[in-house]
Amino acid sequence: MSQNQNLSDLESRLRDLSPGEGLAVLADLFPGKVVFSTSLGQEDQVITQLIANHKLPIQIFSLDTGRLFGETLDLLARTESKYNTRIKLYYPERDSVENWVAKNGINGFYETVENRKSCCYVRKVEPLKRALAGNEIWVTGLRAEQSANRSEMKKIEWDEGNQILKYNPLLDWTFDEMISYIEEHKIPYNPLHDQGFVSIGCAPCTRAILPGEDARAGRWWWEDSKKECGLHSR
Ligand code: ADX
Ligand code: SF4
Repeated sequence: MSQNQNLSDLESRLRDLSPGEGLAVLADLFPGKVVFSTSLGQEDQVITQLIANHKLPIQIFSLDTGRLFGETLDLLARTESKYNTRIKLYYPERDSVENWVAKNGINGFYETVENRKSCCYVRKVEPLKRALAGNEIWVTGLRAEQSANRSEMKKIEWDEGNQILKYNPLLDWTFDEMISYIEEHKIPYNPLHDQGFVSIGCAPCTRAILPGEDARAGRWWWEDSKKECGLHSR
């Protein structure tokens, strides 16, 4: 069967399923080859709860860039205890980080977009490639509402850069639906969300947003770029 045929079969199979049902179907179809990347954001916390509650054999992993907020790492530990699970952590290559910092300075990503992208490459994109290697399905917490780029994504799509099928189970969820689900299921979340932080990444590259600002306005706020770090570029 061709790649395209596979994809359209999967698309129709997943179309009317809830996120939990979709995850279960994929875990069954691709045993041991489904992985979920969590940044510990609200979307990701919903997916972690679904995987844990349904006891799905899906490896949960996170990319510890070395520049995350303390609150994010505390949430990671709380999440592991609450769901009695282990979130596998991937770290950047030591030599690459040392060379990058030696060349650009510890906060050299503020200087040029090129520097910022190369820092994201070293601290996130390369470790992501290692985390995805050998797997068939990459689950993410992307939602269409988050940005124009993301509104064009599909629930299941082929990621050419990483040569893997990407499943975005919450793609159609609204922000309010997600918050209701978190409240109803008492899912632990990052306390920074209560201080105006919406989308949370590395500490030096994330700020709170003002009422009315775009959800991703607090990421790399000093840039006019597309506000993607290379994990989800298309
Ligand atoms: S980013 O590309 O701008 O950093 P964002 O924070 O919106 O991404 O998160 C979107 C999805 O990317 C998350 O749902 C998660 O699947 C993945 N992701 C982002 N950052 C990380 C991280 N540090 N570790 C693991 N997955 C991440
Ligand atoms: Fe580096 Fe900032 Fe990208 Fe984190 S978000 S990897 S600190 S440039």
